[in-house]
Amino acid sequence: MKTLIFENGDEIPVLGLGTWKSKPGEVYQAVLWAIESGYRHIDCAAIYNNEKEVGEALTKAFADGLVKREELFITSKLWNDCHRKEDVKKGLLKSLSDLNLEYLDLYLIHWPVSFKKGVGFAENREQYFTYSDVPLSQTWQGMQSLKAEGLVKHIGMSNFNIAKLKEVLAIGGAAPEMNQVEMHPYLRQDKLVEFCKANDILMTAYSPLGSGDRSKSIKKTDEPNMFEDDVVLSIASKYRVNAAAVLLAFSINRGIAVIPKSVNQDRIRQNLLASELVLEKGDLDQLLQIQSQYRFIDGTFFTGSKSPYSLSDLWEPE
Ligand code: A2P
Repeated sequence: MKTLIFENGDEIPVLGLGTWKSKPGEVYQAVLWAIESGYRHIDCAAIYNNEKEVGEALTKAFADGLVKREELFITSKLWNDCHRKEDVKKGLLKSLSDLNLEYLDLYLIHWPVSFKKGVGFAENREQYFTYSDVPLSQTWQGMQSLKAEGLVKHIGMSNFNIAKLKEVLAIGGAAPEMNQVEMHPYLRQDKLVEFCKANDILMTAYSPLGSGDRSKSIKKTDEPNMFEDDVVLSIASKYRVNAAAVLLAFSINRGIAVIPKSVNQDRIRQNLLASELVLEKGDLDQLLQIQSQYRFIDGTFFTGSKSPYSLSDLWEPE
């Protein structure tokens, strides 16, 4: 499998298994199927509320000799309620304990949004007590300490725009190594891609398939369906692959990792094959010129009337 390479030479496989929305009772099997099929990169997060089950699958995979720890690349993410410097390590230790691991390959600040301790996903978002004012510098210094201690090999962020990345770069010390953001042919993120490249920050594309299985509370009824896009379908038919493979190859061919979520054995296997799909330049260009643009994870869940955050704080103006 192709990899992206960090400054120190460590590698991250370009395709990993996403676990957001993978339900209890499903994710254990999905992780084992993925490892059996050849996945070596698993993307997790504390807020997905399934790291214990992912950990059980990893423990089983190691015990059965399917794979060794050092052959896997495991990412997790610090939730919004652990942004204070003293909480960053607590957040990591909980994920390590749930995943039953001694270290992570990559740890990310999940959102540039701070919550009060104990607040989960978008709970009470209309209430002042959801939010807490922790400067990014505190959180980033906490992340840098984890790297210095060897508890995580690489550190970065998710959902950071250029302004927020600049804020972190200005702190100095260990630099951000990864920015994981929504990306697919309907959200190219050109400016962010250019900025990350210029600053040696690798990227991972989340929701590469449009995350159609989101709960109703964070999904609009009239969302576009990238699987039915004419350009995507015509390229899929040219290479004799399915639409999902084209959507995944879009980011991989731009030098960006992808983490499609699936709990279905056939789709887990199919998606892995996308990592081998090399698109001709003209085909990638066609995907880059698709007019429809859409942000599926639009962040409105952090922007209630009582929130200090607005969409313009979160996202790059395109
Ligand atoms: P399932 O888990 O049943 O396979 P994203 O990675 O953008 O969040 O998208 C995940 C959604 O896409 C899930 O609903 C997942 O369903 C579905 N999915 C994953 N792989 C494929 C595929 N190859 N073809 C169609 N749908 C897929």
